Amino acid sequence: MSLGTWRAAAERAESVLRSNIVEVTVGDKRLRHAIPSPAFYVHQWFWDSCCHAMGLAHIGPEDAVDELRSLVAGQWRNGQIGAITYNPAEYSYYPKAECWDTAEFSAAGIVAAGIAQPPLLAISVERVAAQLDVVQREAFLAEILPSVVSYHEYLRRHRDPEESGLLTMIHPWESGCDNSPRWDRSLATISVDDVPTQVIEDVDKNRSDTVTGKTSHRPNQDDYYRYMYLVHLYNELHWDVDTIVATSPFAIKDILFNSAWVRANESLARLTNDAVYEEWAEQGRAGLHKTWDAERRQFCDVDVSNGKWEPIHESTIAMFTPLWCAAAEGEVLDGLLARLSDPEEFWPECPVPTTGLNSSKFDLLRYWRGPTWPITNTILIEGLLRTGETSERARLLGNQLLASTLDMIADHGFSEYYQPTGTSEAGALLGFGRFSWSAALFLHLFHSFASEN
Ligand code: GLC
Repeated sequence: MSLGTWRAAAERAESVLRSNIVEVTVGDKRLRHAIPSPAFYVHQWFWDSCCHAMGLAHIGPEDAVDELRSLVAGQWRNGQIGAITYNPAEYSYYPKAECWDTAEFSAAGIVAAGIAQPPLLAISVERVAAQLDVVQREAFLAEILPSVVSYHEYLRRHRDPEESGLLTMIHPWESGCDNSPRWDRSLATISVDDVPTQVIEDVDKNRSDTVTGKTSHRPNQDDYYRYMYLVHLYNELHWDVDTIVATSPFAIKDILFNSAWVRANESLARLTNDAVYEEWAEQGRAGLHKTWDAERRQFCDVDVSNGKWEPIHESTIAMFTPLWCAAAEGEVLDGLLARLSDPEEFWPECPVPTTGLNSSKFDLLRYWRGPTWPITNTILIEGLLRTGETSERARLLGNQLLASTLDMIADHGFSEYYQPTGTSEAGALLGFGRFSWSAALFLHLFHSFASEN
C-alpha cells in the first residue's frame, strides 16, 4: 500500500482517537483521557492509555499529557496503578468498581482495579516527552516522574520475592492477554466447585462482555468464574500484595509483562539519569535468558505459585517479546526468527497471530487465542527494528511487519483485533469497534517509522 493511503488512514485514526476522549470529574479533579471503545470499554485502561498517549503525542502533545496525568491520578499510596481506573459516572461495564474493595488505597478517592497491566508507563512518558518543547517537557517530567518512579519501586519491591529479576503477575488480566492459552494450566488448578456461590451468581447476573460481544469470541464462563474468584480472594486479603504473591494459585512470571518491565526500566534510566533502572533492566534480561528453552526455541512464562518454578510451553506471541528489550542474540535470535517467520506457525497473511497457527490451542476468532492485535504487533515491530541494527533478517521482518500492520489497520479500520488468516478475509474486523489503541498505535507506528517527516 502507498504512503498516501496510510496518510489518509492516519487522518481517520486521529478522528477516532479524538472522538473517544472523555472528561471525567472525580471529587475536585477533572481528568481527560480516551476510553478504549465506546461500545464496551468505558473506563480508563492502563496499557491502552500508555498507547493512546504515544499516538496523541504526534497529533496533540497536550492531549497526551492529559492522558497520562489522568492515568496516574488514581495511583495508590503504595505506588500501584490499576489496570482499570473507573469513571464514577459510568455503570455499564463489568466488573464494576464495586467488585474491587480498593477505594481506601487511592490517594485521591478514585477507584481503580487492584491489579496491574504490562508496565508501559515509562516508555510512554519518554515518547510523549520527546514531542514537547523544552519548557513543556521540564514541567511534564517534574509532574509525572515521581509517579513513575514510585510505580517501578512498587513493582520491584512486591513482585519479585525470588529476586529473579522477573516480576510476578497475579491475575490473567494483568498480562493484558487475558484469555491466552498460557494461563490455562494455572487456571485449571482452581476448581469451579470451590468458587463461592456469591461469585458465581454475581458473574451469571452481571457479566456483560458476552452480551455486548459474541460468546464464541470471548473467554468461557468457567474461566470467568475463576477470574472473579481471584478478585474475591484478593479482596479478602485486603490487597496485601506480598501475601497474594506468596499464596495465590495464580502467580506467573509472564514473558511479555517482563519484557515491558525491562524496556520500561531502560526508558526510566534515560529519563532520570539514574543507573539503578539500567541495573533492574539488566537483571530482568538475565531473568528472561533463564527462561529460554533451547529445544523448543522459545522463552517461557514460569508458574511460580506456591514456591514452584514450572515453565509454561504454549506457543504464543509472548515468546518473541524479549526482542523489545534486547534480550535475544546469536542462536537465541536465530531460533526466534525462524519460528516467527514460519508461515505454518506465526507468519500467515496477516501476521502475527497471538497463538501459533499449529498449536492445538489456536482459535481463529477467540480473544487472545489466535487473532492479531496491534499492541503485540507494535512490540514486535519495535523489537525487530531495534534488533535490526545488527541483524539484517530482523530488520527485514520488522519492516515487513510494519507495512502489513499499517495495511491491516488502514484496510479494515480501527477494530479491537483482526483475523490473521482463515476462511473469510484475512484482517477482517473482530471484537469491539472504534478502538482507541488501534488508532493510536497506527499513528505511533506511522509517524515514528513510516512517514517521511
Ligand atoms: C481487554 C484486553 C486488555 C485491554 C482491555 C481494554 O481486557 O485483554 O489487554 O487492556 O481489553 O482494551
